[in-house]
Amino acid sequence: MTTKVIDVKNGFQSQDDIKEAASILLAGGLVVFPTETVYGLGGDATNESSAQKIYAAKGRPSDNPLIIHIASPEEAEPYAVTSETYYRLAKAFMPGPLTVVLPRKESIPLRTTGGLQTVAVRCPSHPIARALIREAGIPIAAPSANLSGKPSPTCARHVIEDLSGRVDMILDGGNSEIGLESTIVALDGNRATLLRPGAITADALRCVCESVTVAPSVVAQLAENERPLSPGMKYKHYAPSVPFVLLKGSKNNILDFLKKEQKEKKCAILCYSEETAELENKNLVDIGKSENLDEQAKRLFTALRDADKLGVDIIYGHLPTTDGIGLALYNRMLRAAAHTILEV
Ligand code: TXA
Ligand code: MG
Repeated sequence: MTTKVIDVKNGFQSQDDIKEAASILLAGGLVVFPTETVYGLGGDATNESSAQKIYAAKGRPSDNPLIIHIASPEEAEPYAVTSETYYRLAKAFMPGPLTVVLPRKESIPLRTTGGLQTVAVRCPSHPIARALIREAGIPIAAPSANLSGKPSPTCARHVIEDLSGRVDMILDGGNSEIGLESTIVALDGNRATLLRPGAITADALRCVCESVTVAPSVVAQLAENERPLSPGMKYKHYAPSVPFVLLKGSKNNILDFLKKEQKEKKCAILCYSEETAELENKNLVDIGKSENLDEQAKRLFTALRDADKLGVDIIYGHLPTTDGIGLALYNRMLRAAAHTILEV
């Protein structure tokens, strides 16, 4: 299959483009589109065979459910059993980087939900995503547009690397604004369980929900046969092809350790901007200033992909704080590092 790439950095330039993208979806094809979090690999959420095509294009196990994307919160009605808490969350955070898991209605095939009786609903804020959902007039099922196991794509280059020839169309909207996938919550009445941390933080959710419990799989390694609340948490993810090790310790200890490693090993470093002057200018990938968590979130997935191409034997990074969006960074980095933390 040839993949058509369309530049939509300044919006859809013609009616023909948006009509073509929507008609691909309606005909059961696949369109990659930008969202404010990461790029999505979209298909018709109401069409079983589209879901099957998505799993095949990504090389993803078919028991890992897909998020359905809608253009406004009420559009969840035909597909999910909504609740008062859903609408309160929607009022506070939608459109935006929040996904809510709700009981499924029959209109969403089990193939889309990976066999679960629940469905994950998200209303993205990106204008291209919203325009596409509206034009197609259907909910769009979309996992992140990477090959299974790779970091989620935050620009069209990543998508092209992974999915060229596997999808009908890629809409290139430039760099993703947030850079990490949406926050996912499951609801029990007014109580929420955080299944995946993202830019909508646990504290922000606490302003709406009576309680927010962080699922154990967010920060801890699952036991061999443990079943996570969110199926995606059990899969290897984001991992570079060489060991990735997270360093824990004082600023000085970490710098001393890295300087020594640079002399002795072929290593790449996901470093803070202020460290670049102190380290040897070799295989450094700047992920932003240490105090700027938003910038680090935005750059992490590109940094992991870039570091993996340097031909080194090991990659080092900093163990992030778990405050605010730090919890999302911590979660993704821990999984990329397969929970390898080195105290120095
Ligand atoms: O920001 C995002 O959420 C991006 C953009 C494209 O919207 N999408 C995304 O999708 O990250 P994906 O498929 O890569 O990750 C969705 C996660 C998976 O870990 C999946 O297991 C979980 O959501 N999930 C989906 N439906 C679920 C459900 N019904 N119950 C629990 N977890 C669910
Ligand atoms: Mg994903």
